[in-house]
Amino acid sequence: MDSITPTLFENDAALNACDDPPIKNGESLSSLVERLLSQESLAHVKREVSNLRQRCESACDRARNGASELADASVSPSVLLTQLDQILDAQTLERARYYLKRLKKSLTEVKTSAINDLNLNQWQEYDDVLTDSLWLLGKRDSSGAHHAGYWGNFVPEIPRQFFKRYTKKGDWVLDAFLGSGTTLIECRRQGRNGVGVELQPRVASLAESAIASEPNPRGIQTHVIVGDAAALNYEAELARIGIKRVQLLIMHPPYWDIIKFSDDARDLSNAQSLDAFLAMLGKVIDGTYPVLDDGRYFALVIGDKYSGGEWIPLGFYSMQEALKRGYKLKSIIVKNFEETRGKRNQRELWRYRALVGGFYVFKHEYVFLFVK
Ligand SMILES: C[S@@+](CC[C@H](N)C(=O)[O-])C[C@H]1O[C@@H](n2cnc3c(N)ncnc32)[C@H](O)[C@@H]1O
Repeated sequence: MDSITPTLFENDAALNACDDPPIKNGESLSSLVERLLSQESLAHVKREVSNLRQRCESACDRARNGASELADASVSPSVLLTQLDQILDAQTLERARYYLKRLKKSLTEVKTSAINDLNLNQWQEYDDVLTDSLWLLGKRDSSGAHHAGYWGNFVPEIPRQFFKRYTKKGDWVLDAFLGSGTTLIECRRQGRNGVGVELQPRVASLAESAIASEPNPRGIQTHVIVGDAAALNYEAELARIGIKRVQLLIMHPPYWDIIKFSDDARDLSNAQSLDAFLAMLGKVIDGTYPVLDDGRYFALVIGDKYSGGEWIPLGFYSMQEALKRGYKLKSIIVKNFEETRGKRNQRELWRYRALVGGFYVFKHEYVFLFVK
């Protein structure tokens, strides 16, 4: 466990300049909590906490107005407010101390797991980390090098979410179907190293340019391999880069022939049948399995297709390929999507087709999340 420095109120000039400070000048939030823990009177504890709450509320207001003093705070004022309210609601000194101890822990101790950097003592802070299986994502992030220009690319939020929950800074990520490079652009942003495989040299080269245009403040390594993800010797490729294993595997293969990416027979979008598609995907899963660290995660992003008046559950068939190979299923995430470029302006036509054909228009895809 590392020690962290609570900065919220130490840096809060308004707080320390107050006439009747609940925190003595220079006293940190954690020492205030420490002091309150030795208090014998519940009324006294509540009085001090109530004063602190008032200041916390005005810090919240300043944060809402964009005050930058809170940017590096170890605990955000809104989360702190909730914790202070619990203390104020306590009916006994023992209960108040219980909440004070919990607050102290969140201020002074970092608790992380083996697979990410989230501080579980401050888990309430991570509003941006999704934990529900239904992802209704809003407008895609098109900032920096991210763009929606490659037909069939996924939104950056997908790798971003998985980096936060299933990797630590400096870990290695492998994306076997790199496309426009979304995963590796996100690697630069989030401080993860990345390897991506793409069959089409032209697409790989465009991805490399896009990745290079994203700032790389942490000196992250990104490697783009041009090749057939189903036939690569992953151990040898990683050895060339100087690593043995990766800590997160991402795959966003073609959804069989829904979008034809190239004329190359090795392209999964050119598979001659469903079985051929699944066999090709199976080979990619076989090839990558040995280079994923044990206990680490594999995210497979895929949608279904509609053909000959029948809904083909491509996602679930693909999921089976991973399960057959020994992966354990951790979650099935259903993610919304709006019109792809192909279907844009065709909304009405698809609605008509759905009414005639007795089916529903696709508005979702899946992320199957496995652990090795
Ligand atoms: C759905 S796209 C991936 C998009 C990517 N997630 C992004 O955000 O840009 C699938 C990609 O897989 C590539 N692909 C198809 N078959 C492949 C194979 N056998 N090996 C490597 N890449 C392949 C296609 O050229 C296409 O760029």
